[in-house]
Amino acid sequence: MQSTTSKPTISLRINVRISLGLLAMFLVKAWRATAFGVYGYLNFTKSGFLEHSKSFNPEDVARRIDGKNCIVTGANSGIGYATAHGLASRGATVYMVCRNKERGEVAVSDIQAATGNQKVYLEVCDLSSVNEIKSFTSRFRTKDVPIHVLVNNAGLLENKRVTTSEGYEMNFAVNVLGTYSMTELMLPLLEKSQPDARVITVSSGGMYTSPLTTDLQFDRGEFNGAEQYVRNKRVQVALTEKWAEKYGDKGIGFYVMHPGWAETPGVTKSLPSFSESLKGKLRTSNEGADTVIWLALQPKEKLVSGGFYFDRAEAPKHLAFSATKKSHSAINSIIDTLNSFGNF
Ligand SMILES: NC(=O)c1ccc[n+]([C@@H]2O[C@H](COP(=O)([O-])OP(=O)(O)OC[C@H]3O[C@@H](n4cnc5c(N)ncnc54)[C@H](OP(=O)(O)O)[C@@H]3O)[C@@H](O)[C@H]2O)c1
Repeated sequence: MQSTTSKPTISLRINVRISLGLLAMFLVKAWRATAFGVYGYLNFTKSGFLEHSKSFNPEDVARRIDGKNCIVTGANSGIGYATAHGLASRGATVYMVCRNKERGEVAVSDIQAATGNQKVYLEVCDLSSVNEIKSFTSRFRTKDVPIHVLVNNAGLLENKRVTTSEGYEMNFAVNVLGTYSMTELMLPLLEKSQPDARVITVSSGGMYTSPLTTDLQFDRGEFNGAEQYVRNKRVQVALTEKWAEKYGDKGIGFYVMHPGWAETPGVTKSLPSFSESLKGKLRTSNEGADTVIWLALQPKEKLVSGGFYFDRAEAPKHLAFSATKKSHSAINSIIDTLNSFGNF
């Protein structure tokens, strides 16, 4: 029997469908970027922090935490430095994980001098290398100290495609694989401080513009460092949800937060035009670190494990109509990939 639909009609229909699909994708992307820009400008800048801080309770962060052991990664600069300083000033023992020995030593002695707390230590580890993380964590585990707080702060936005010595795309290696490896390998020491243990991961509000994707190393399409960075930051949010679910019975709380837009060496270097256009409107590093410190100090009953936090409150993980929610179902396959990369 002969078909009644001719070949040109079928191909026209296919073309129309593809065009509509591309148009929808374009519109969703444009909506995400616009919604993020407006929401960010109103909330993530210094004025947003000052507005939100009107409802902060100063007593929340007035606690001392002598005897608590905290690890802060990327602690020699920006938000990590402010976090390490804030924890040390409240009496914690702080292990500052830095990739550069000299920069790390300067930061440790500055914090010791400013806080009078001598229990601030440098641990050198390049978090772009799984092998280095493995040797650091196995060395560190011999200390046999309980870890109360692990702050996964180290991160970067590398605009060019750079490949690490282990063959991974650099943003992914530090922001995702490094964060994943540190957390998984520190679990035994975190379990020692249960039920108080917590992992706090520093994501970015930029993740609102990205769904979760299994293209972890940006193998598809033309590489874009800023896009790769926000994809990485979305993975951190989905990972935190998964950790909370997977390790809920271990007495460890998992929280992910974003600091807003803070003026740090990382932002100045990686986003010069953003930094220039918002001159005077960005938060300080201390303001960026405020919610990290708050999460470290709150009684766990007040917090939601797996939650995303901003300015001392739980925040939505998805912007309205941004079509990012369903993508989180890809996290299991992402974890399988991370386990295979790390040989865990
Ligand atoms: N500032 C913001 O507005 C903003 C907004 C959203 C999210 N964040 C997030 O906040 C976190 C801190 O960023 P920041 O703005 O404070 O930037 P920063 O000043 O550049 O600090 C980043 C820290 O991470 C360290 N780091 C980078 N790669 C590393 C590696 N391979 N191994 C070990 N440490 C490494 C850096 O060490 P070096 O000094 O040796 O480079 C530095 O100590 C990041 O996760 C970032 O994504 C920041």
